[in-house]
Amino acid sequence: MNSDESSRLEINSQNKEIIREVFELEANGHKDARELFKDEIAGFLIRTEDGSYTLSSDKRNDESETLHSKFGARTEAFEKFVIPSKLLEKAKENSVIKVLDICSGIGYNVSALLDYLNDCDVEIEVDMVESSLETIATTLFIPDICESHSYVKKAIESYLIDKGYLHYNKVLSNIPSNIKLNIHVCDARDYIKNCNEKEYDAVFLDPFSPAKCPELYSVDFFTKLMEYLTPTALILTYTAASPVRAGMVEAGMHIGEGPRVHRSGGTIASRSADMIDTPLSFSDIKVISLSDVGIPFIDPYLTDDYSTIMERRQGQRKKVRGITMFPSSNKLPRYLGLNPDDIEDVSLADKLNGYVQNMGFNSIDDDRIISLLDIDKNQPSSNQILELKDKLFDLLSKN
Ligand SMILES: C[S@@+](CC[C@H](N)C(=O)[O-])C[C@H]1O[C@@H](n2cnc3c(N)ncnc32)[C@H](O)[C@@H]1O
Repeated sequence: MNSDESSRLEINSQNKEIIREVFELEANGHKDARELFKDEIAGFLIRTEDGSYTLSSDKRNDESETLHSKFGARTEAFEKFVIPSKLLEKAKENSVIKVLDICSGIGYNVSALLDYLNDCDVEIEVDMVESSLETIATTLFIPDICESHSYVKKAIESYLIDKGYLHYNKVLSNIPSNIKLNIHVCDARDYIKNCNEKEYDAVFLDPFSPAKCPELYSVDFFTKLMEYLTPTALILTYTAASPVRAGMVEAGMHIGEGPRVHRSGGTIASRSADMIDTPLSFSDIKVISLSDVGIPFIDPYLTDDYSTIMERRQGQRKKVRGITMFPSSNKLPRYLGLNPDDIEDVSLADKLNGYVQNMGFNSIDDDRIISLLDIDKNQPSSNQILELKDKLFDLLSKN
């Protein structure tokens, strides 16, 4: 089924329907409703390469996405979100750790976090924000990825009972007294608009991809998010997409490379440059700062739908492409500053020179381009991006 372009992308609709049947049966006094639908829900589970399971979304533009990496959902939770969050160090120094889990899905990132901090003498408070009630309810049918998954399940079951969707206590484990899991079933944009001065030590930002869920990667979303971060908090996300990174920089964040897992990277952001260990490559910096790919998503009131946000960005890209920013065609930004004679593919070199000639330069190694790129490469990546953007603006307003 195709997700309506004006609505959020969530798990597949048939999966949701079964969960609603479970709710209905429990409301009608069927104690074994979950047992009854166990096999049907198992039919929606997709096994990833490390043996843990994921689910599929509805379709958007005729494509669905899985909730986690097919290379390993459990691996992704630990290696892309929890381990690089530096919360283990913080848990040794602080008495309380607060985490914002954006797009909680089936609770993998939070379970991995609780497992990781298991031996620490620290209070852990997590705000779990997920728009789909049926998705959090599906968590109760997923095999545990680690011991702490049962705490997340307990919190979800208690929430669903409290709200009147479920009626029976089936999850046996008890949440340890140092752990507080607050569940918020709402759009993450509404959550951060109304979030009351919480200071988070880390944010797990785990929506679907930017091409499918741009609303949670906009400059405006990041700007609001910045208000709730401690100076040393890290935002972790699996995507390395240029508009996302550009949006973070425009919101005032420092950014760096996330850990590489199975060839794909990610992005780590913070208010503080000192918290970023691995800077972006200069090649990525050029793409973000100098070309139309670096146009971020905009969502001024944090209310626009998918199509409005995508079309707004498309319109802006068209306006600047080849005029106030270099076009991203044939990866031009990566070649800026190189001697065209060093490019083996002669027709590619001609094309690249053609793009910059249309903008009034002689070639991709025009002196003005070389001088544009001459910045201090030891400064933080975000500062390099901002400096290049300023220099590009000055240069093109003279052309
Ligand atoms: C990639 S999955 C998250 C996986 C999850 N972090 C985990 O550990 O299992 C993305 C989730 O975002 C949710 N979602 C989509 N749009 C949302 C929005 N605007 N606000 C909050 N959640 C949203 C979807 O329902 C889906 O469960």
